[in-house]
Amino acid sequence: MSSNSSTLNVEDRSVELPVKHGTIGPSVIDISKLYGQTGAFTYDPGFTSTASCESKITYIDGDAGVLLYRGYPIEQLAEHGDFLETCYLLLYGELPTAAQKADFDYRVTRHTMVHEQMNRFFMGFRRDAHPMAIMVACVGALSAFYHDSTDISDPQQRMIASMRMIAKMPTLAAMAYKYSIGQPFVYPQNDLDYTSNFLRMCFAVPCEEYKVNPVLSRALDRIFILHADHEQNASTSTVRLAGSSGANPFACIAAGIACLWGPAHGGANEAALKMLEEIGTPDRIPQYIAKAKDKNDPFRLMGFGHRVYKNYDPRARIMQKTTHEVLNELGIKDDPLLDVAVELEQIALKDEYFLEKKLYPNIDFYSGITLKAMGFPTSMFTVLFALARTVGWIAQWSEMIEDPSQRIGRPRQLYIGSPKRDYVTVAQRG
Ligand code: SDX
Repeated sequence: MSSNSSTLNVEDRSVELPVKHGTIGPSVIDISKLYGQTGAFTYDPGFTSTASCESKITYIDGDAGVLLYRGYPIEQLAEHGDFLETCYLLLYGELPTAAQKADFDYRVTRHTMVHEQMNRFFMGFRRDAHPMAIMVACVGALSAFYHDSTDISDPQQRMIASMRMIAKMPTLAAMAYKYSIGQPFVYPQNDLDYTSNFLRMCFAVPCEEYKVNPVLSRALDRIFILHADHEQNASTSTVRLAGSSGANPFACIAAGIACLWGPAHGGANEAALKMLEEIGTPDRIPQYIAKAKDKNDPFRLMGFGHRVYKNYDPRARIMQKTTHEVLNELGIKDDPLLDVAVELEQIALKDEYFLEKKLYPNIDFYSGITLKAMGFPTSMFTVLFALARTVGWIAQWSEMIEDPSQRIGRPRQLYIGSPKRDYVTVAQRG
């Protein structure tokens, strides 16, 4: 589509609608004036054909299996960079110089502690509370502690709030894990890099020295890079919509965490591992493939399929490589879950149903095996996804706030309910 306008006929009217072209990828038809000109709305539940905004942050080509952060391919960032470098890139739009990277790392590191009274929040939860419930509560509560960084009209305050969230997510996530296993919280240690600090806060105990395994730290750092941002997915759209009302950034990120929790979205990594455990052995795979294909069975292969990727999720490939790296480092020769996952993938990718519907493994298919091998309980998998995605949510939220065309998000509807009718007293209702 190279023209700059398109004609739409609605009943007896014909309207000219502008067409806008991006740098790469699909063009858009600007329908913002459609209702005013025709009295009709568009209808697109699930937003399969709807662009909600302009963005310079992330680009996905679902057919080619391409993912770019600020133009850089995910494969190259995962191979050569680290997570905080990716955070800088997503937030500022360019890769940092050595000096900029050192300054950014320093600033993030010095925001990793949480207010001591946050500890009391945890005491209110049952030990078996799902850590995602704790994260939604605690991240939303951060706004109660940081009144000096909730004025969203002030770029300086927006940046401080951004640094605070990127820095404090690992600390809160580790606290949620420690609380669930009845171990004392471990404070961040400033001489460790971001991901090593997180591993230590999760797995160190006061009784002995904790040594970070550099292979595992590098693997987890790469996993964070893979999860950092992903265009206008459900949780990012939630953050943007919450932010469009002027809500403070901590509340917006808490809304994103709540949305990510769903098993169709970020909760799929937890659901995928549970599915692999339920399948148990390769010989049971055919019956689950049959269930996934059965229209009358709500079962889906968790970790398979994607709204945008109609090819292999490029992140899943890197995830699979990382899984082998971690299992090798840990000396896990044959992981039955990995055997089931690899066999399941091979069978599904030869099956007509999956080929016809273009269902491929997504980022959630292999991540659970890796995280479980690292020692994380299944309930922490989506927390780690939220930890990594916080920078993407913040970058997208900032872009929305700085967009001069941004207004409060307020979709309309197709009303199919009762036409106007008069009140009937209870005596007349029979
Ligand atoms: C993430 O959007 C993002 O970018 C998300 C994410 C990110 O980084 O933010 O990539 C992270 O959320 C990855 C997706 C994790 N979710 C899962 O793995 C859950 C299992 N997958 C699905 O439920 C599903 O594939 C979705 C939710 C991911 C996508 O759903 P869509 O785009 O709405 O597709 P659909 O539900 O309309 O499915 C199309 C067809 C349907 O069959 P028909 O009705 O056309 O006959 O494919 C079938 C579905 O029944 N289908 C599956 C399937 N996924 C889709 N059948 C079996 N198993 C599956 N996993």
